[in-house]
Amino acid sequence: MGHHRLAVIPGDGIGPEVTDAALAVLDAAEQRFGFSTERTTVSLGADRYLESGELLPDEAVAELRSNDAILFGAIGSPKVTPGILEHGVILAMRAAMTQAVNLRPVRLYPGVPTPIAGLTPQRCDLVVVRENSEGAYVGRGSTVHRGTPAAVAVQESVNTWYAAHRAVDFSFRLAQQRRKKLTLCHKTNVLVEAGRLWLSVVEELSAQYPDVETDYVHVDAMCMHLPTTPERFDVVVTDNLFGDIVTDLGAVLAGGLGVAASGNLNLDGSGTSMFEPIHGSAPDIAGRGWANPAGAVLSLALALGTLGEGEAAAAVEAAAASVLSELPALAGEAMGATTEVVGQRIVDRLGEVDSDLLGGDSLMAQLAAVANA
Ligand code: NAI
Ligand code: MG
Repeated sequence: MGHHRLAVIPGDGIGPEVTDAALAVLDAAEQRFGFSTERTTVSLGADRYLESGELLPDEAVAELRSNDAILFGAIGSPKVTPGILEHGVILAMRAAMTQAVNLRPVRLYPGVPTPIAGLTPQRCDLVVVRENSEGAYVGRGSTVHRGTPAAVAVQESVNTWYAAHRAVDFSFRLAQQRRKKLTLCHKTNVLVEAGRLWLSVVEELSAQYPDVETDYVHVDAMCMHLPTTPERFDVVVTDNLFGDIVTDLGAVLAGGLGVAASGNLNLDGSGTSMFEPIHGSAPDIAGRGWANPAGAVLSLALALGTLGEGEAAAAVEAAAASVLSELPALAGEAMGATTEVVGQRIVDRLGEVDSDLLGGDSLMAQLAAVANA
């Protein structure tokens, strides 16, 4: 029987609300599938920062490191200057835990409304692998003559062969578990230096994975292909900035920010992987019960997949998908039930669904094979 140590970071705003719902689903999954977890809450975010000035203290890093996975809600508050918590906590955690890739599935579940006319679940099942450690997110740059008309702002994008290689290699391995197609998304026609590096890595590694077909699209064209022909994609690998942007578009295809999940994966055992809905702390709806917990619940499913609980992961995904298909709307008051009630419906559904409901090709289960290889 599996036993897993989980660090839980509820965070700010709707973070604690959706995290509570996900933990109720976890309780039910443990009962049904016979594994257990030991959970430690780690308080990080606006309250801690405003009380003590602490962002990510060493003792929190040590606690995160000692766990098998991290469940994270969201961080961010109107009371704190933008950038402080995002850089000081979120990006700092991803760096401290060497979370090399950010995995963002884009899957439209049966019966879930999408704003894209005519889109069907069969045509919308892809995974974006976003490089998670560098590019424009390294926080390097400078401004000279700040505040004057002569101001010059330089924001650096750092691209190493090492980080691109580990992201692309993981993407090939994931594609092998899926439909065996890998697409590189970049902007090689303008960002020629970084683009050449990414292309060379894909070319080099494709020799090791001859069963995986490779493809390339520019990021601007990606914004056209994603809503019109998402069936073109299986696994998409891209840099940090492009991945951030195209996955918000991907989330919209699949029903909106409230249902999109992600996993920040450590690939070499040097740190702990972290699972979080892609949305933020949504201060505009915090405390009202209007947050959809599905993004957090599906992130839990990704966590269970990487922890080797593939069957539980697939069942949690199927239960969440089934409940989502019954909601009149996917966010806000129009959702027709509170965050807690939607979470409870997923709990109840977990007792009824077959983990094969989605056809046995659950990404959550595929991850069990790839993430721990
Ligand atoms: P946001 O994702 O928090 O909200 C964007 C919009 O989507 C809002 O209208 C919100 O009500 C809605 N929304 C978000 N999640 C929802 C859910 N589960 N159910 C229903 N509706 C939902 O992004 P925003 O407003 O740009 O940022 C708010 C704060 O969160 C900022 O401080 C930002 O820096 C932070 N942030 C934190 C992230 C993280 O912790 N990983 C990620 C993104 C933003
Ligand atoms: Mg984003």
